[in-house]
Amino acid sequence: MSPLSAQLDQKSGRRRDKKDELRLLINSCHPIIAVETFEETRVEELLAEVALELNVPLFVWSVTSGLARKGAEAPIYHTDDPEQVLANIALIRGDALFLLKDFERYLEQDRILRRMRELAESFRDARRSIVLSGASLKLPPELNEEVVPFRFELPDADLLLQVVLGTLAELGKKISYKVELDSNGLRQLAQNLVGLTSEEARRTLTKCLLQSVHADASTITAVLEAKRLALRQEGVLEYLKADASFADVADLKNLKEWLRKRRGALTAEGQRFGLVPPKGILITGVQGCGKSLSAKAVAGEWGLELAKLDAGALYDKYVGESEKHLRKSLGTAEQLAPIVLWIDEIEKGFASTGASAAVDAGLSQRILATFLTWLQDRQSGVFIAATSNDISALPPELLRKGRFDEIFFVDLPDAETRAELFRIHLQRRGRDAAQFDLAALAAACDGFSGAEIEQAVISALYTAFSQKQQLSTDILLGELRATRPLAVTRQEDIAALRAWARDRAVPAN
Ligand SMILES: Nc1ncnc2c1ncn2[C@@H]1O[C@H](COP(=O)(O)OP(=O)(O)OP(=O)(O)O)[C@@H](O)[C@H]1O
Ligand SMILES: [Mg+2]
Repeated sequence: MSPLSAQLDQKSGRRRDKKDELRLLINSCHPIIAVETFEETRVEELLAEVALELNVPLFVWSVTSGLARKGAEAPIYHTDDPEQVLANIALIRGDALFLLKDFERYLEQDRILRRMRELAESFRDARRSIVLSGASLKLPPELNEEVVPFRFELPDADLLLQVVLGTLAELGKKISYKVELDSNGLRQLAQNLVGLTSEEARRTLTKCLLQSVHADASTITAVLEAKRLALRQEGVLEYLKADASFADVADLKNLKEWLRKRRGALTAEGQRFGLVPPKGILITGVQGCGKSLSAKAVAGEWGLELAKLDAGALYDKYVGESEKHLRKSLGTAEQLAPIVLWIDEIEKGFASTGASAAVDAGLSQRILATFLTWLQDRQSGVFIAATSNDISALPPELLRKGRFDEIFFVDLPDAETRAELFRIHLQRRGRDAAQFDLAALAAACDGFSGAEIEQAVISALYTAFSQKQQLSTDILLGELRATRPLAVTRQEDIAALRAWARDRAVPAN
């Protein structure tokens, strides 16, 4: 046995666990098992293995091909009709497993639902189970008693290693290319594919290999890039480079301190130590004061990967499939753990739904419910850094204790912080901050947000350039005098925000 296959054998434990779990469900006479998954093929394979071990026949159904015994040629006559297939199943005697693909939608019909319940009732005393699979399963509550869910996650690195080996072997039969990766390299390759389904992983790897004709170190990074792209194309989850850190953020001391204390709690080491992994924070406050910036900086600061969930895109892109895509995105985030999941302007995806419920036929309610369920049940390893510009639009369920560890309120910067903001933004544009009178600048922009200070620096650079001068304190002061900050124009909004935050949020600065 090669070292790699020995390693594989050892590490396929998790897969075996899954099989054991499924076998247990079947052996304990659960009439209906619901598997929510994007990987129908993997479910079918796993069921086939279990059926073989238990020595019971497996029947597979889909609406296009009808019901057929696995391994048999022809389907049973006329079983492509969803009601008829239940009648046929009732006639099949003895132990058996039935995999019904995408059957959930037919359960909305009363007759079919009724038949399913009767069938389930008659299954109670034999090793007969119906397995319902689908990408998003919402079963009618009448079946609650009979149904047991079976979690089927995206494949982990161990399973993907088998996909990698399989793909290499498969491709080797068609084209000639060189594998210059040792077992560690192959493992890294598999690790970089985590977050994709087996099928997506196979396609991504094949594409990379066809482009380079070598499987070497460059394939490992090419695969990572391809994965970023694949996830981006899905539109909801964007996999980002975590390049911001707290060095780029002025003040927000409380927030930074809170996060610093919890650094490392998401890593395997922290968890072995017994740290309770933090779940997430919600940052709200005055516009342009660094909410988005600091949420993004968490990943860089903690040295974790960063993914952004574009909750708004859920509604634009996938009419009718929004929940499925949300669920898949959240599942992907779990697979990429430990990771920071940044949800910017969370109200865009999970706004209070009272007014819109009638308009979108309950879609936003279902999206919210999906998200809340996930927040509740998820495994650790995904830290949520959410921001909100309009907290009054958020449903109270989302703000209830326990959903987020803390809600932070970001206020306008004080004089000391404003000086720091000038320093950061001058230096970012290649200027030596020591050459400027930071105290005078800070004094001249009471009520300015960080974004407005940055904007002043940018405009002053234009002014200086057009006057063929070097940037100076005077030019900056001129820009500040010409700006009416939001704190003045939107005074009432800011007062309302502060009032809201007073007893609900912790000050970030
Ligand atoms: N505390 C800060 N430290 C450094 N830069 C800041 C800070 N606050 C704001 N900025 C600058 O202002 C820009 C805008 O900030 P950011 O987008 O994070 O604000 P926001 O609070 O999310 O605003 P919005 O309410 O418009 O979403 C940032 O890109 C950054 O350059
Ligand atoms: Mg923002």
